[in-house]
Amino acid sequence: MREWPDGVHVAPSILAADFGRMRDQAREVLDAGASVIHIDVMDGHFVPVITFGPAMVAALAGTIHERGGFADVHLMVEEPERHLEQFAAAGADSMTVHVETCPHLHRTIETIHELGCRAGVTLNPATPVDALDEAARYADVLLCMSVNPGWGGQRFIPATLDRLRRIRVLAARREPGPPVEVDGGIGSATIADAAAAGAEVLVAGSAIFSDPAPGEAYRRLADAVAAARV
Ligand code: DX5
Ligand code: ZN
Repeated sequence: MREWPDGVHVAPSILAADFGRMRDQAREVLDAGASVIHIDVMDGHFVPVITFGPAMVAALAGTIHERGGFADVHLMVEEPERHLEQFAAAGADSMTVHVETCPHLHRTIETIHELGCRAGVTLNPATPVDALDEAARYADVLLCMSVNPGWGGQRFIPATLDRLRRIRVLAARREPGPPVEVDGGIGSATIADAAAAGAEVLVAGSAIFSDPAPGEAYRRLADAVAAARV
């Protein structure tokens, strides 16, 4: 089982990439220094949009792993338990589930671990932070949604900053604590505040892949994070 990479990372979200050139786009940001690739799976049910399933993870996993990268799969799906085995076989290093979809969250996390993957938990912007209180004891990453899941390119919800600080407190009960991740609306205007509030994995989709030069866009965000944390 691979560890979550140490330190602070900007994680490009492949959702905003050109779907006809997924491997090339992943390669571009990995070669620019990215070590976590965020992969958004949506089922058209938990969220209205359908994106892709395990076949896309399998198509990207080789490119990610041969460059030492980490495949961070975000499951915006109902009954994620039905799909975990397939995503693990496809090459996911970590699978993150929503508390809103998992009545038996402890069991779901155990299953992810048994499949040899890191387990993440996340919650929608209107779900109280307390919903992470128990799972923060054994999850490997705590993901704070900073937009309502379902689409890239949305505006960062300002209340996220307070939520990030509270999630950091939950993470800090363990030593070492799980990394805190933030997802949605991260770009040049928001990334420094999110990093200062304690996010260590900062997912960015459109801010990277809507740029004609995604590798350079990645590097600018990574530099902004480094400056925010000194
Ligand atoms: C939203 C997804 C995000 C998305 C973020 O439901 O979970 O990962 O890719 O996209 P941006 O960075 O464009 O807000
Ligand atoms: Zn995501």
